[in-house]
Amino acid sequence: MTKSAELKKYLDKAIKEKFAIPAINTTNMETTQSIVEAAKEMNAPVIIQITESAIKYAGFSYAEAILKTAANTPQVFIHLDHGMSEEMAKQCIESPAFAAVMIDKSKFNLEENIAGTRRVKEYAGYKLVEAELGVVGGKEEDVIAEGSIYTNPCEAKRFVDETGVDILAIAIGTAHGIYKDEPKLNYEIIGQIREAVGNIPLVLHGSSGLSDEQLRKAVAAGINKVNLDTEIKQEFIKGFTQYLEKNPSDYDLRKIFGEARNYAKELIKHKIKVLGAENKY
Ligand code: G3H
Ligand code: ZN
Repeated sequence: MTKSAELKKYLDKAIKEKFAIPAINTTNMETTQSIVEAAKEMNAPVIIQITESAIKYAGFSYAEAILKTAANTPQVFIHLDHGMSEEMAKQCIESPAFAAVMIDKSKFNLEENIAGTRRVKEYAGYKLVEAELGVVGGKEEDVIAEGSIYTNPCEAKRFVDETGVDILAIAIGTAHGIYKDEPKLNYEIIGQIREAVGNIPLVLHGSSGLSDEQLRKAVAAGINKVNLDTEIKQEFIKGFTQYLEKNPSDYDLRKIFGEARNYAKELIKHKIKVLGAENKY
């Protein structure tokens, strides 16, 4: 079975058994390792995702080599997050490391979003494609949006029918990055979209800063993939700075990054629990 088929199997299981697969962003080897180790320790399926700008930072072949190694762990799946260009989506589809890609045309009008998503879906073959409908607020890397626009369930049905997309990211009031005000989440829309589109995995973007309770409610309402970036990075930095505060004259990067990696791993394990993904592999 290909990694894409395996991932589909676990996304379908998430729909059936009402849990969500954590999809954690990576920017370096240590973050990647923290996700893999958390997945193993919790016996959970996890997605490691990487944005275009993170790929550019590392260089495609460095990123690909690290991700390919991570994907040797059976419950770990690799995904392109917020693919803004069709070229990058295609490059990742061609790569043996990637099980899935996201093509993000959500800032365009519905017709252009449908057309661009369909082009990538046709190119993808057996690999899974995620697309987004509606607007998740805030800023993530090169993705900037002023406010949230909730996904319309009727449009979602048309979008899924006309694109054949495998995984659908929806907007329910979350935002990328750090929340300035308490987010107002509309859990009802999740149920309405599920009703309209049937059994396609639904994704929550901008999940950092949500309480455990908010995450549990989103999963109970039908979310099956939860994207987390900012909080994990913050935790990584916390491990890094706390180590240096305690050991100000230490310059062994392995100890400093090692502590950062441990902090990130522990938070990921907590998120796996909250999302109900523990022992789902
Ligand atoms: O695609 C990635 C996410 O939506 C991450 O959002 O930084 O708010 O956790 P976050
Ligand atoms: Zn996102």
